[in-house]
Amino acid sequence: MEESHAVLPVGVSIYKLADLIEANKEELARLETLDNGKPLTDSLNADLSLVIACYRYYAGWADKVQGKTIPINGPYFCYTRHEPVGVVGQIIPWNFPLLMQAWKLAPALAMGNTVVMKTAEQTPLSALRVGELILEAGFPPGVVNLLSGYGPTAGQAIARHRDIDKVAFTGSTEVGHLIMEAAAQSNLKRVTLELGGKSPNIVFADANFEEAIEGSHQGLFFNQGQCCCAGSRLFVEESCYDEFVTKSVERARSRRVGDPFDSNTEQGPQVDQEQFNKVMGYIESGQRDGAQMLCGGGRLGDRGYFIEPTVFAGVRDDMKIAQEEVFGPVMSIIKFKDVEEVIQRANNTIYGLAAAVWTKDITKAHAIANGVRAGTVWVNCYDVFDAAAPFGGFKQSGMGRELGEYGLQQYTEVKTVTIKL
Ligand code: NAI
Ligand code: MG
Repeated sequence: MEESHAVLPVGVSIYKLADLIEANKEELARLETLDNGKPLTDSLNADLSLVIACYRYYAGWADKVQGKTIPINGPYFCYTRHEPVGVVGQIIPWNFPLLMQAWKLAPALAMGNTVVMKTAEQTPLSALRVGELILEAGFPPGVVNLLSGYGPTAGQAIARHRDIDKVAFTGSTEVGHLIMEAAAQSNLKRVTLELGGKSPNIVFADANFEEAIEGSHQGLFFNQGQCCCAGSRLFVEESCYDEFVTKSVERARSRRVGDPFDSNTEQGPQVDQEQFNKVMGYIESGQRDGAQMLCGGGRLGDRGYFIEPTVFAGVRDDMKIAQEEVFGPVMSIIKFKDVEEVIQRANNTIYGLAAAVWTKDITKAHAIANGVRAGTVWVNCYDVFDAAAPFGGFKQSGMGRELGEYGLQQYTEVKTVTIKL
Protein backbone atom coordinates (compact mmCIF):
# COMPACT_ATOMS: atom_id res chain seq x y z
CA MET A 1 0.00 0.00 0.00
CA GLU A 2 2.78 2.39 0.91
CA GLU A 3 4.39 1.58 -2.40
CA SER A 4 1.53 3.12 -4.32
CA HIS A 5 2.45 6.44 -2.71
CA ALA A 6 6.16 6.10 -3.46
CA VAL A 7 5.74 5.20 -7.14
CA LEU A 8 3.85 7.52 -9.46
CA PRO A 9 1.16 6.08 -11.74
CA VAL A 10 2.97 5.15 -14.94
CA GLY A 11 0.95 7.59 -17.07
CA VAL A 12 2.11 10.47 -14.89
CA SER A 13 5.73 9.41 -15.26
CA ILE A 14 5.41 9.12 -19.04
CA TYR A 15 3.83 12.56 -19.14
CA LYS A 16 6.66 13.92 -17.01
CA LEU A 17 9.17 12.34 -19.37
CA ALA A 18 7.50 14.13 -22.30
CA ASP A 19 7.83 17.43 -20.40
CA LEU A 20 11.50 16.77 -19.66
CA ILE A 21 12.20 15.90 -23.30
CA GLU A 22 10.45 19.11 -24.35
CA ALA A 23 12.50 21.15 -21.87
CA ASN A 24 15.69 19.61 -23.31
CA LYS A 25 14.68 19.42 -26.94
CA GLU A 26 17.43 21.68 -28.35
CA GLU A 27 20.12 19.56 -26.72
CA LEU A 28 18.47 16.30 -27.83
CA ALA A 29 18.07 17.59 -31.39
CA ARG A 30 21.77 18.51 -31.52
CA LEU A 31 22.75 15.07 -30.25
CA GLU A 32 20.52 13.45 -32.88
CA THR A 33 22.08 15.50 -35.67
CA LEU A 34 25.60 14.88 -34.38
CA ASP A 35 25.01 11.12 -34.33
CA ASN A 36 22.88 10.65 -37.43
CA GLY A 37 23.80 13.55 -39.73
CA LYS A 38 20.21 14.68 -40.35
CA PRO A 39 19.61 18.45 -40.61
CA LEU A 40 19.14 20.08 -37.22
CA THR A 41 15.93 21.75 -38.39
CA ASP A 42 14.49 18.28 -39.14
CA SER A 43 15.69 16.88 -35.80
CA LEU A 44 13.90 19.71 -34.03
CA ASN A 45 10.77 20.20 -36.11
CA ALA A 46 10.08 16.62 -37.22
CA ASP A 47 11.76 14.13 -34.87
CA LEU A 48 11.52 15.93 -31.54
CA SER A 49 7.96 17.16 -31.97
CA LEU A 50 6.76 13.67 -32.95
CA VAL A 51 8.69 12.17 -30.03
CA ILE A 52 7.10 14.48 -27.47
CA ALA A 53 3.61 13.94 -28.94
CA CYS A 54 4.09 10.16 -28.85
CA TYR A 55 4.95 10.06 -25.14
CA ARG A 56 2.02 12.36 -24.33
CA TYR A 57 -0.37 10.27 -26.40
CA TYR A 58 0.56 7.02 -24.65
CA ALA A 59 0.67 8.68 -21.23
CA GLY A 60 -3.03 9.28 -21.74
CA TRP A 61 -3.71 5.61 -22.51
CA ALA A 62 -1.97 4.23 -19.41
CA ASP A 63 -5.10 4.23 -17.21
CA LYS A 64 -7.66 3.70 -19.98
CA VAL A 65 -7.06 0.14 -21.14
CA GLN A 66 -9.29 -2.33 -19.38
CA GLY A 67 -10.81 -5.77 -19.74
CA LYS A 68 -14.44 -6.78 -20.22
CA THR A 69 -17.04 -8.63 -18.23
CA ILE A 70 -18.39 -11.34 -20.51
CA PRO A 71 -21.74 -13.09 -20.10
CA ILE A 72 -21.11 -16.82 -20.58
CA ASN A 73 -23.39 -19.87 -20.23
CA GLY A 74 -23.93 -21.30 -16.75
CA PRO A 75 -23.47 -20.00 -13.21
CA TYR A 76 -20.22 -18.20 -13.87
CA PHE A 77 -18.77 -14.75 -13.72
CA CYS A 78 -16.27 -14.22 -16.51
CA TYR A 79 -13.99 -11.29 -17.07
CA THR A 80 -10.75 -10.43 -18.86
CA ARG A 81 -7.68 -8.63 -17.62
CA HIS A 82 -5.22 -6.91 -19.93
CA GLU A 83 -1.90 -7.73 -18.33
CA PRO A 84 1.61 -6.64 -19.30
CA VAL A 85 3.44 -9.09 -21.58
CA GLY A 86 6.38 -8.90 -19.18
CA VAL A 87 9.95 -8.14 -20.12
CA VAL A 88 10.05 -6.61 -23.57
CA GLY A 89 13.18 -6.55 -25.73
CA GLN A 90 13.29 -3.70 -28.22
CA ILE A 91 15.84 -3.33 -31.00
CA ILE A 92 15.85 -0.03 -32.87
CA PRO A 93 17.61 1.40 -35.96
CA TRP A 94 19.66 4.54 -36.61
CA ASN A 95 17.46 6.46 -39.08
CA PHE A 96 15.11 7.96 -36.43
CA PRO A 97 16.79 7.05 -33.15
CA LEU A 98 14.71 9.12 -30.72
CA LEU A 99 11.47 8.55 -32.57
CA MET A 100 11.93 4.78 -32.75
CA GLN A 101 12.74 4.83 -29.04
CA ALA A 102 9.48 6.67 -28.37
CA TRP A 103 7.34 4.44 -30.63
CA LYS A 104 8.57 1.39 -28.73
CA LEU A 105 9.06 2.64 -25.19
CA ALA A 106 5.89 4.67 -24.73
CA PRO A 107 3.28 1.93 -25.40
CA ALA A 108 5.35 -0.73 -23.61
CA LEU A 109 5.57 1.39 -20.46
CA ALA A 110 1.96 2.56 -20.68
CA MET A 111 0.85 -1.09 -20.53
CA GLY A 112 3.08 -1.85 -17.53
CA ASN A 113 5.93 -3.78 -19.17
CA THR A 114 9.62 -3.49 -18.37
CA VAL A 115 12.03 -2.89 -21.24
CA VAL A 116 15.49 -3.90 -22.41
CA MET A 117 16.21 -1.67 -25.41
CA LYS A 118 19.19 -1.92 -27.74
CA THR A 119 19.99 1.17 -29.78
CA ALA A 120 21.72 1.04 -33.15
CA GLU A 121 25.52 1.01 -33.08
CA GLN A 122 25.66 4.16 -35.27
CA THR A 123 23.44 6.27 -33.00
CA PRO A 124 23.55 5.53 -29.25
CA LEU A 125 23.82 9.09 -27.87
CA SER A 126 20.35 10.61 -27.83
CA ALA A 127 18.70 7.52 -26.34
CA LEU A 128 21.20 7.53 -23.47
CA ARG A 129 20.39 11.17 -22.73
CA VAL A 130 16.70 10.19 -22.64
CA GLY A 131 17.76 7.44 -20.21
CA GLU A 132 18.88 10.14 -17.77
CA LEU A 133 15.56 11.90 -18.21
CA ILE A 134 13.72 8.62 -17.59
CA LEU A 135 15.35 8.40 -14.16
CA GLU A 136 14.57 12.07 -13.54
CA ALA A 137 10.92 11.42 -14.43
CA GLY A 138 10.73 8.95 -11.56
CA PHE A 139 10.67 5.53 -13.22
CA PRO A 140 12.07 3.02 -10.73
CA PRO A 141 15.55 1.72 -11.59
CA GLY A 142 15.34 -1.43 -13.73
CA VAL A 143 12.10 -0.58 -15.51
CA VAL A 144 13.93 0.75 -18.55
CA ASN A 145 17.31 -0.74 -19.45
CA LEU A 146 19.19 0.84 -22.35
CA LEU A 147 22.01 -1.02 -24.07
CA SER A 148 24.45 0.26 -26.65
CA GLY A 149 25.74 -2.66 -28.67
CA TYR A 150 26.09 -4.49 -31.96
CA GLY A 151 23.35 -6.45 -33.67
CA PRO A 152 24.80 -9.94 -34.02
CA THR A 153 25.89 -9.95 -30.35
CA ALA A 154 23.71 -7.74 -28.12
CA GLY A 155 20.76 -7.81 -30.54
CA GLN A 156 20.82 -11.58 -30.97
CA ALA A 157 21.16 -12.05 -27.20
CA ILE A 158 17.84 -10.22 -26.79
CA ALA A 159 16.13 -12.20 -29.55
CA ARG A 160 17.35 -15.51 -28.07
CA HIS A 161 16.88 -14.78 -24.38
CA ARG A 162 14.45 -17.13 -22.66
CA ASP A 163 13.45 -14.61 -19.98
CA ILE A 164 12.39 -12.01 -22.53
CA ASP A 165 8.68 -12.36 -23.30
CA LYS A 166 8.44 -10.25 -26.42
CA VAL A 167 10.74 -8.66 -28.96
CA ALA A 168 9.90 -5.59 -31.02
CA PHE A 169 12.28 -4.84 -33.87
CA THR A 170 12.69 -2.13 -36.49
CA GLY A 171 15.31 -2.55 -39.19
CA SER A 172 16.11 -4.59 -42.27
CA THR A 173 13.90 -7.40 -43.54
CA GLU A 174 16.99 -9.62 -43.51
CA VAL A 175 17.45 -9.20 -39.74
CA GLY A 176 13.65 -9.46 -39.25
CA HIS A 177 13.93 -13.07 -40.47
CA LEU A 178 16.75 -13.71 -37.95
CA ILE A 179 14.68 -12.27 -35.08
CA MET A 180 11.77 -14.60 -35.83
CA GLU A 181 14.13 -17.54 -36.12
CA ALA A 182 15.70 -16.76 -32.75
CA ALA A 183 12.26 -16.40 -31.15
CA ALA A 184 11.18 -19.72 -32.64
CA GLN A 185 14.33 -21.46 -31.43
CA SER A 186 14.18 -20.09 -27.89
CA ASN A 187 10.90 -19.47 -26.07
CA LEU A 188 8.37 -18.44 -28.76
CA LYS A 189 8.50 -14.88 -27.47
CA ARG A 190 6.00 -12.55 -29.14
CA VAL A 191 7.43 -10.83 -32.19
CA THR A 192 6.53 -7.53 -33.82
CA LEU A 193 8.53 -6.28 -36.78
CA GLU A 194 8.78 -3.03 -38.75
CA LEU A 195 10.93 -3.81 -41.76
CA GLY A 196 11.94 -2.54 -45.16
CA GLY A 197 9.82 -1.14 -47.94
CA LYS A 198 9.69 -0.26 -51.60
CA SER A 199 6.70 2.00 -51.44
CA PRO A 200 4.83 2.97 -54.61
CA ASN A 201 4.04 6.67 -54.98
CA ILE A 202 1.49 7.05 -57.79
CA VAL A 203 0.93 10.34 -59.60
CA PHE A 204 -2.05 10.77 -61.95
CA ALA A 205 -2.11 13.48 -64.61
CA ASP A 206 -5.12 15.13 -62.94
CA ALA A 207 -3.19 15.77 -59.68
CA ASN A 208 -2.31 19.20 -58.37
CA PHE A 209 1.02 19.22 -60.19
CA GLU A 210 3.05 21.51 -57.93
CA GLU A 211 1.96 19.64 -54.80
CA ALA A 212 2.67 16.27 -56.38
CA ILE A 213 6.19 17.36 -57.42
CA GLU A 214 7.09 18.74 -54.00
CA GLY A 215 5.36 15.94 -52.08
CA SER A 216 7.07 13.26 -54.14
CA HIS A 217 10.41 15.04 -53.72
CA GLN A 218 10.08 15.13 -49.93
CA GLY A 219 8.57 11.63 -49.83
CA LEU A 220 11.79 10.27 -51.32
CA PHE A 221 14.59 12.62 -50.25
CA PHE A 222 13.48 13.32 -46.66
CA ASN A 223 16.02 12.11 -44.09
CA GLN A 224 18.65 11.58 -46.84
CA GLY A 225 16.31 8.98 -48.31
CA GLN A 226 16.80 6.81 -45.22
CA CYS A 227 13.12 6.13 -44.54
CA CYS A 228 11.50 2.71 -44.44
CA CYS A 229 8.44 4.25 -46.13
CA ALA A 230 10.32 6.31 -48.77
CA GLY A 231 8.33 6.64 -52.00
CA SER A 232 11.06 4.87 -53.92
CA ARG A 233 8.95 3.62 -56.82
CA LEU A 234 7.52 6.79 -58.28
CA PHE A 235 4.85 5.78 -60.83
CA VAL A 236 3.83 8.69 -63.07
CA GLU A 237 0.99 8.61 -65.61
CA GLU A 238 2.15 8.55 -69.22
CA SER A 239 0.47 11.80 -70.31
CA CYS A 240 2.32 13.92 -67.74
CA TYR A 241 5.47 11.82 -67.44
CA ASP A 242 7.94 14.03 -69.34
CA GLU A 243 6.87 17.24 -67.64
CA PHE A 244 6.92 15.54 -64.22
CA VAL A 245 10.44 14.24 -64.83
CA THR A 246 11.71 17.67 -65.91
CA LYS A 247 10.25 19.39 -62.85
CA SER A 248 11.44 16.67 -60.45
CA VAL A 249 14.97 16.97 -61.79
CA GLU A 250 14.84 20.77 -61.35
CA ARG A 251 13.69 20.33 -57.76
CA ALA A 252 16.34 17.72 -56.96
CA ARG A 253 19.05 19.99 -58.42
CA SER A 254 17.95 22.79 -56.10
CA ARG A 255 18.08 20.61 -52.97
CA ARG A 256 20.55 22.12 -50.53
CA VAL A 257 23.05 19.50 -49.37
CA GLY A 258 25.64 20.29 -46.73
CA ASP A 259 26.41 20.93 -43.08
CA PRO A 260 23.45 19.56 -41.10
CA PHE A 261 23.94 22.26 -38.46
CA ASP A 262 23.35 25.00 -41.06
CA SER A 263 19.68 26.02 -40.87
CA ASN A 264 19.44 26.26 -44.70
CA THR A 265 20.45 22.65 -45.24
CA GLU A 266 17.83 20.22 -46.53
CA GLN A 267 20.06 17.15 -46.79
CA GLY A 268 23.01 16.01 -44.70
CA PRO A 269 25.33 13.03 -45.14
CA GLN A 270 24.31 9.35 -45.15
CA VAL A 271 24.72 7.78 -41.72
CA ASP A 272 27.95 5.85 -42.34
CA GLN A 273 30.40 4.39 -44.86
CA GLU A 274 28.39 1.16 -45.20
CA GLN A 275 25.21 2.98 -46.17
CA PHE A 276 27.15 5.36 -48.43
CA ASN A 277 28.71 2.41 -50.29
CA LYS A 278 25.37 0.64 -50.56
CA VAL A 279 23.68 3.69 -52.11
CA MET A 280 26.57 4.34 -54.54
CA GLY A 281 26.32 0.67 -55.55
CA TYR A 282 22.64 1.12 -56.42
CA ILE A 283 23.42 4.25 -58.45
CA GLU A 284 25.93 2.19 -60.49
CA SER A 285 23.42 -0.61 -60.91
CA GLY A 286 20.77 1.82 -62.20
CA GLN A 287 23.19 3.05 -64.86
CA ARG A 288 24.25 -0.49 -65.75
CA ASP A 289 20.61 -1.56 -66.14
CA GLY A 290 20.03 1.28 -68.60
CA ALA A 291 17.98 3.77 -66.58
CA GLN A 292 18.62 7.43 -67.56
CA MET A 293 20.42 9.28 -64.78
CA LEU A 294 19.28 12.88 -65.20
CA CYS A 295 21.01 14.49 -62.24
CA GLY A 296 23.33 13.66 -59.36
CA GLY A 297 24.98 10.27 -59.22
CA GLY A 298 28.15 11.31 -57.44
CA ARG A 299 29.66 11.99 -54.09
CA LEU A 300 29.55 15.60 -52.95
CA GLY A 301 32.93 16.87 -51.75
CA ASP A 302 35.65 14.57 -50.47
CA ARG A 303 34.80 14.47 -46.75
CA GLY A 304 31.81 12.83 -45.13
CA TYR A 305 29.13 10.70 -46.78
CA PHE A 306 27.33 13.34 -48.83
CA ILE A 307 25.55 12.09 -51.96
CA GLU A 308 24.13 14.31 -54.70
CA PRO A 309 20.33 14.09 -55.01
CA THR A 310 19.95 11.65 -57.88
CA VAL A 311 17.05 11.14 -60.29
CA PHE A 312 16.62 8.22 -62.67
CA ALA A 313 13.95 8.25 -65.39
CA GLY A 314 13.01 5.42 -67.72
CA VAL A 315 13.14 2.97 -64.83
CA ARG A 316 11.62 -0.47 -65.50
CA ASP A 317 9.98 -2.65 -62.84
CA ASP A 318 12.59 -5.39 -63.17
CA MET A 319 15.62 -3.17 -62.50
CA LYS A 320 17.37 -3.62 -59.18
CA ILE A 321 16.73 0.05 -58.22
CA ALA A 322 12.99 -0.61 -58.66
CA GLN A 323 13.04 -3.84 -56.64
CA GLU A 324 15.39 -3.38 -53.69
CA GLU A 325 15.44 -0.88 -50.85
CA VAL A 326 18.05 1.77 -51.77
CA PHE A 327 17.74 3.79 -48.54
CA GLY A 328 19.35 6.86 -50.04
CA PRO A 329 18.72 10.04 -52.09
CA VAL A 330 17.93 8.20 -55.31
CA MET A 331 14.60 8.76 -57.09
CA SER A 332 13.31 6.25 -59.65
CA ILE A 333 10.55 7.50 -61.97
CA ILE A 334 8.49 4.84 -63.73
CA LYS A 335 5.81 5.33 -66.41
CA PHE A 336 2.29 3.86 -66.19
CA LYS A 337 -0.92 3.93 -68.28
CA ASP A 338 -4.00 3.19 -66.15
CA VAL A 339 -5.41 2.38 -62.71
CA GLU A 340 -5.69 -1.42 -63.01
CA GLU A 341 -2.21 -1.75 -64.41
CA VAL A 342 -0.56 0.48 -61.82
CA ILE A 343 -2.21 -1.35 -58.91
CA GLN A 344 -0.96 -4.66 -60.20
CA ARG A 345 2.58 -3.30 -60.70
CA ALA A 346 2.55 -1.49 -57.34
CA ASN A 347 1.79 -4.82 -55.65
CA ASN A 348 4.49 -6.71 -57.50
CA THR A 349 6.95 -6.58 -54.58
CA ILE A 350 7.80 -8.53 -51.45
CA TYR A 351 7.15 -5.37 -49.43
CA GLY A 352 3.96 -3.61 -48.30
CA LEU A 353 4.76 -0.77 -45.95
CA ALA A 354 3.30 2.38 -47.48
CA ALA A 355 1.91 3.88 -50.68
CA ALA A 356 0.67 7.23 -51.90
CA VAL A 357 -1.56 8.52 -54.66
CA TRP A 358 -1.87 12.02 -56.11
CA THR A 359 -5.15 12.76 -57.93
CA LYS A 360 -8.20 15.02 -57.80
CA ASP A 361 -10.44 12.09 -58.77
CA ILE A 362 -11.91 10.48 -55.66
CA THR A 363 -12.68 7.26 -57.53
CA LYS A 364 -9.04 6.79 -58.50
CA ALA A 365 -7.93 7.68 -54.97
CA HIS A 366 -10.17 4.97 -53.48
CA ALA A 367 -9.18 2.43 -56.12
CA ILE A 368 -5.53 2.85 -55.12
CA ALA A 369 -6.27 3.01 -51.37
CA ASN A 370 -8.24 -0.25 -51.56
CA GLY A 371 -6.14 -2.06 -54.15
CA VAL A 372 -2.61 -1.51 -52.90
CA ARG A 373 -1.38 -4.05 -50.34
CA ALA A 374 0.32 -1.72 -47.86
CA GLY A 375 -0.08 -0.76 -44.22
CA THR A 376 -0.44 2.95 -44.92
CA VAL A 377 -1.85 4.82 -47.94
CA TRP A 378 -1.46 8.58 -48.20
CA VAL A 379 -3.76 10.48 -50.56
CA ASN A 380 -2.42 13.83 -51.83
CA CYS A 381 0.18 13.87 -49.07
CA TYR A 382 3.21 11.89 -47.90
CA ASP A 383 4.89 11.03 -44.59
CA VAL A 384 1.99 12.27 -42.48
CA PHE A 385 2.58 10.69 -39.08
CA ASP A 386 0.54 10.99 -35.91
CA ALA A 387 0.86 9.10 -32.64
CA ALA A 388 -2.81 8.09 -32.95
CA ALA A 389 -2.56 6.60 -36.47
CA PRO A 390 -1.24 3.00 -36.69
CA PHE A 391 1.79 2.25 -38.83
CA GLY A 392 3.23 -1.06 -40.01
CA GLY A 393 3.64 -3.43 -42.87
CA PHE A 394 1.85 -5.98 -45.01
CA LYS A 395 3.92 -8.87 -46.40
CA GLN A 396 7.67 -8.74 -45.69
CA SER A 397 7.47 -5.17 -44.43
CA GLY A 398 6.62 -6.56 -41.04
CA MET A 399 4.03 -7.80 -38.61
CA GLY A 400 1.96 -6.01 -36.00
CA ARG A 401 1.29 -2.29 -35.87
CA GLU A 402 2.89 0.51 -33.94
CA LEU A 403 1.25 3.74 -32.76
CA GLY A 404 -2.39 4.34 -31.97
CA GLU A 405 -4.66 1.99 -30.07
CA TYR A 406 -3.56 -0.88 -32.32
CA GLY A 407 0.01 -0.38 -31.10
CA LEU A 408 -1.06 -0.91 -27.49
CA GLN A 409 -2.54 -4.32 -28.20
CA GLN A 410 0.95 -5.62 -28.97
CA TYR A 411 2.00 -4.89 -25.39
CA THR A 412 -0.69 -6.73 -23.41
CA GLU A 413 -1.67 -10.33 -22.83
CA VAL A 414 -5.38 -11.06 -22.37
CA LYS A 415 -6.24 -13.21 -19.36
CA THR A 416 -9.69 -14.78 -19.00
CA VAL A 417 -10.89 -15.31 -15.42
CA THR A 418 -13.96 -17.53 -14.88
CA ILE A 419 -15.49 -17.79 -11.39
CA LYS A 420 -18.15 -20.30 -10.39
CA LEU A 421 -20.95 -18.51 -8.56
P1 NAI B 1 19.93 -3.76 -39.45
O1 NAI B 1 18.60 -4.40 -39.62
O2 NAI B 1 21.15 -4.64 -39.48
O3 NAI B 1 19.99 -2.95 -38.05
C1 NAI B 1 18.87 -2.49 -37.34
C2 NAI B 1 19.02 -2.83 -35.86
O4 NAI B 1 19.12 -4.24 -35.73
C3 NAI B 1 20.30 -2.29 -35.21
O5 NAI B 1 20.04 -1.98 -33.87
C4 NAI B 1 21.24 -3.47 -35.28
O6 NAI B 1 22.26 -3.44 -34.31
C5 NAI B 1 20.29 -4.62 -35.05
N1 NAI B 1 20.75 -5.91 -35.56
C6 NAI B 1 21.56 -6.16 -36.63
N2 NAI B 1 21.78 -7.48 -36.78
C7 NAI B 1 21.08 -8.10 -35.80
C8 NAI B 1 20.90 -9.45 -35.43
N3 NAI B 1 21.50 -10.43 -36.09
N4 NAI B 1 20.11 -9.73 -34.36
C9 NAI B 1 19.49 -8.74 -33.68
N5 NAI B 1 19.64 -7.44 -33.98
C10 NAI B 1 20.42 -7.11 -35.01
O7 NAI B 1 20.05 -2.62 -40.54
P2 NAI B 1 21.40 -1.91 -41.06
O8 NAI B 1 22.46 -2.93 -41.27
O9 NAI B 1 21.68 -0.78 -40.17
O10 NAI B 1 20.93 -1.35 -42.46
C11 NAI B 1 20.79 -2.24 -43.58
C12 NAI B 1 19.57 -1.89 -44.36
O11 NAI B 1 18.40 -2.14 -43.61
C13 NAI B 1 19.45 -0.42 -44.76
O12 NAI B 1 20.22 -0.11 -45.88
C14 NAI B 1 17.98 -0.31 -44.99
O13 NAI B 1 17.69 -0.79 -46.27
C15 NAI B 1 17.39 -1.25 -43.96
N6 NAI B 1 16.94 -0.51 -42.75
C16 NAI B 1 15.60 -0.30 -42.57
C17 NAI B 1 15.16 0.44 -41.48
C18 NAI B 1 13.71 0.72 -41.28
O14 NAI B 1 13.36 1.80 -40.81
N7 NAI B 1 12.82 -0.23 -41.52
C19 NAI B 1 16.09 1.04 -40.53
C20 NAI B 1 17.47 0.70 -40.77
C21 NAI B 1 17.85 -0.03 -41.85
MG1 MG C 1 22.89 -4.82 -40.58
